[in-house]
Amino acid sequence: QPIHLADYRPPSHLVETVALTFRLSPGATRVLSRIRFRANPAGLENGNLRLDGEGLRLISCAIDGVALTALDYLLTPEGLTVPAERLPAQSFLWEAEVEIDPAGNTALEGLYMSGGMYCTQCEAEGFRKITFYPDRPDVMAPFTVRIEGDASVLLSNGNPGASGPGWAEWHDPWPKPAYLFALVAGDLVAHRDAFTTMSGRAVDLNIWVRPGDEGKCAYAMDALKRSMRWDEEVYGREYDLDVFNIVAVDDFNMGAMENKGLNIFNSKYVLASPETATDRDYDFIESIVAHEYFHNWTGNRITCRDWFQLCLKEGLTVFRDQQFSADTRSAAVQRIEDVLQLRARQFREDAGPLAHNVRPDSYVEINNFYTATVYEKGAEVIGMLKRIVGAQEYRAALDEYFRRHDGQACTIEDWLAVFQDVTGRDLSQFKRWYTQAGTPRLTAEWQVAGDRLHLRLAQVVPPTPDQPLKEPVVIPIAMGLLAADGTELLPETHVILDSRETVLDFDLAKMAAQAGIALPDRVIPSLLRGFSAPVILDAALTRADRLVLLAHDPDPFNRWEAGRSLMRETLMGMLTGGARDPALFDALGRLLADERLDAAFRALCLALPSEDDLAQAAHDGGLVPDPTAIHATRKAFQSAMASALHGPLAALYDAKDPGPDYSPDAAQAADRALRNAALALLTRIEGPDRARAHYDAATNMTDEIAAFTALLEAGDTDVAQRFHDRWKDDRLVMDKWFMAQITHAAPDRAVATARALTDHPLFDWTNPNRFRSVIGGLTAGNPAGFHDPSGAGYAFLADWLIRLDAKNPQTAARMSTAYETWARYDADRQDMIRAELDRIAATEGLSRDLSEMVGRIRGA
Ligand code: ARG
Ligand code: ZN
Repeated sequence: QPIHLADYRPPSHLVETVALTFRLSPGATRVLSRIRFRANPAGLENGNLRLDGEGLRLISCAIDGVALTALDYLLTPEGLTVPAERLPAQSFLWEAEVEIDPAGNTALEGLYMSGGMYCTQCEAEGFRKITFYPDRPDVMAPFTVRIEGDASVLLSNGNPGASGPGWAEWHDPWPKPAYLFALVAGDLVAHRDAFTTMSGRAVDLNIWVRPGDEGKCAYAMDALKRSMRWDEEVYGREYDLDVFNIVAVDDFNMGAMENKGLNIFNSKYVLASPETATDRDYDFIESIVAHEYFHNWTGNRITCRDWFQLCLKEGLTVFRDQQFSADTRSAAVQRIEDVLQLRARQFREDAGPLAHNVRPDSYVEINNFYTATVYEKGAEVIGMLKRIVGAQEYRAALDEYFRRHDGQACTIEDWLAVFQDVTGRDLSQFKRWYTQAGTPRLTAEWQVAGDRLHLRLAQVVPPTPDQPLKEPVVIPIAMGLLAADGTELLPETHVILDSRETVLDFDLAKMAAQAGIALPDRVIPSLLRGFSAPVILDAALTRADRLVLLAHDPDPFNRWEAGRSLMRETLMGMLTGGARDPALFDALGRLLADERLDAAFRALCLALPSEDDLAQAAHDGGLVPDPTAIHATRKAFQSAMASALHGPLAALYDAKDPGPDYSPDAAQAADRALRNAALALLTRIEGPDRARAHYDAATNMTDEIAAFTALLEAGDTDVAQRFHDRWKDDRLVMDKWFMAQITHAAPDRAVATARALTDHPLFDWTNPNRFRSVIGGLTAGNPAGFHDPSGAGYAFLADWLIRLDAKNPQTAARMSTAYETWARYDADRQDMIRAELDRIAATEGLSRDLSEMVGRIRGA
């Protein structure tokens, strides 16, 4: 049964205070609640007390000290309702005792156990698995918590209160919705530090981990302190409690969770040492620590009225963590990486059956809407808003947002109203970015007419499921103009396309005179600089134009983009029998040798479009993609590139060795990225010797995994065993071992490899990280293997989804998106995928999560 945004009704009761007592026991935890309710003056018609509750054994309940009997309320598998006529009119105390089973909770939602420790995940609707409560974000209250249990560390939200052996109390003074509740209990150790806020508040910082992991917390702690400082400096936001706790858990469905004062993280995004974590892992740790910390203001102090507004906190918080990373590292490199992610995940989603608005209109299971569209496109929308109003007005609007809405549960309308009020702009058309799905297509054509340049810009938003007709959106376009020799004719300019089509007219004679060149007969527009809007740009650029942009565009994003487009066109040409273009390799060779360019930027320029990108490009071009041919063509292109660039690559390999003193800083990481990209290419044509030496010499995981994967690609049959023997006791490193073998298997061996690895004694399919390493290693990491013409990949995924769904619906549903591109492929593959989707749909007892996903993907 879908829930609709249009059906929102304010709650009939609000909560004034919550007091919870937990008596912990793995199979039978008791939860006692004392909740003071008052009637909501803005409440809806019926006035019943509606409490959500799932999987709770009700021991007793009472109102104002009078026990209720089964005749006093209606109890269903989803919750409990006390009719209005049984309720005191204004305010009353609800008390209940329930029993729950954390050890039997395999869905990892609510209170569950991971490696002997208790932990929680309540967003979005997990609190109802802990006790009866109005589990909706527009009900906010201060919480007091008492935990009784035999663990040495007992944590909850807010500030610590009294404690003794076997018990501890916590008080969170800031009103919060139940989804931000958290509890952790276990025999943990802390990596400790402290922070003084801008107004002088002393904050204790702790990262809690299992004994033995305390040496792997320093980087996350450093990232936390830098995030706290950055949010003060850039947004004027200060931390508001005496302690900030982070806990690392091994079994976690997502990356991390921003529970007030007690963030809970997938251990993969906390623990790092040079030996076990790659530069990429360090990057993720930094940005996720920042993300969860930034939620303290954008999410916690100001939360969402209902789950349709999820992008209110997620889009803004992703935007903030991307800004932080851009300030911390190279902004250009950060932007390219963010756009790579956006295109790989969000454009893919927007182009298929799962396309939905940044603010959805309806859902069956909200956990299915923690998507790239809500998060990443949601962040792009904020970026456009900032571009349109300017940095100063953006900051003024954010100040007003925090001032006006602190302590409230808000909507996108509230957010836009702040911007309208502060900037005086009408944002009603801009709002379409929140209410229309699909990636807009922007086309650009131009013409030199004497001393004028006419630039025609047009947009189309394609139809998506349930939205056949679209209105034009507001597209901010950062642009410049270059002459054919690379001279800049027009420095960066900002134009806005808000109609379906417009023609811009430029005075070419004036620009040429200013640039000191003769009137050009050819002009090269550099459009959508910095990827100023999340659209697909079709610009009428020739290969020669793109080579000029690759060599001369002052905007680093568009330089990279030009190279990327050239590579994609070349690869698409090769797929249909065309030849390679030596000019591209020459240009790349010059770029590689240009020491003025950031090494990380150069490494990005060496990376090819992914197999999935090429499949989508083929589909967009009216072809039916052949995953096997795409894989082979990409490999052939890499070999050709390695041969053509052998000299510069070998030189970089020698020059970019940062030496044995590892630091995860951007400069060193960039050198390693470039050197390891060179290694991968060189190994393709030289054979395995260089990679063997690299493997033996590696003193950090970045180099070790680079050599490992290069050797797997080269067909080395021993290296997997060596790696295994060294790392078999480290879960996070072994996740990499599982994944790499599948990702780097030949496509016709990939399913067999994945299957064999599911029989490995260390394959624990109930651990989401391990499950994702193996099943995701195939579906996302080896597309040609997943799309094997036999259909074995499709069946393998379906078997595992059905199995996992019975235990962990959330992770099963998320992995089902591997099927979302089915409509791109040939009739045989389509039939096989549809058959697997039907088989999953027909499974008895299928979760709401997975059945919604399968139905939407299938288009039923
Ligand atoms: N709010 C968390 C974050 O963005 C993610 C929580 C995901 N929860 C879920 N049920 N899907 O950091
Ligand atoms: Zn978030």
